[in-house]
Amino acid sequence: MAIRQIVKLGDDVLRKKSFAVTDFGEKTQQLIDDMIDTLIKSNGAGLAAPQVGVLRRIFVIIKGETQEDGFYVFINPKIISQSGTQYETEGCLSVPGKWGEVKRPNKVTIEFQDRKGDWYKMKAEGFLAKAICHENDHLDGVLYIDKANNLRTENK
Ligand code: CO
Repeated sequence: MAIRQIVKLGDDVLRKKSFAVTDFGEKTQQLIDDMIDTLIKSNGAGLAAPQVGVLRRIFVIIKGETQEDGFYVFINPKIISQSGTQYETEGCLSVPGKWGEVKRPNKVTIEFQDRKGDWYKMKAEGFLAKAICHENDHLDGVLYIDKANNLRTENK
């Protein structure tokens, strides 16, 4: 378990497309544990592997209102359907101190592998749907600031 350094806006790695995870061995398990530790330490809601400089299709998101509720781990995720619209505030650990509103679907269905490599399908809505879309974008080199309106610097 270790805290990894979070890559900030301006680093090319944030703009690259991540590769599929094919090996669910020790190195991947370590990466996932480190991502969760790093997310806890940063007091964030979600973190994608490219944000710690690793171009693999993995992201983690808090399960509930707080970090005590645990974390979802999504590997090789695919958003297979979406519906509705939400327009909520987003921030990003790689773009510190900024906030903006982004239009996202209110509901998504996602297919993904867990850390053992087993496939699941899950429906999400509201905050979780927003977070999934934000983190999934990171895997394709897209940042929320590309989509945000009213981007601003403030304490939220
Ligand atoms: Co982000």
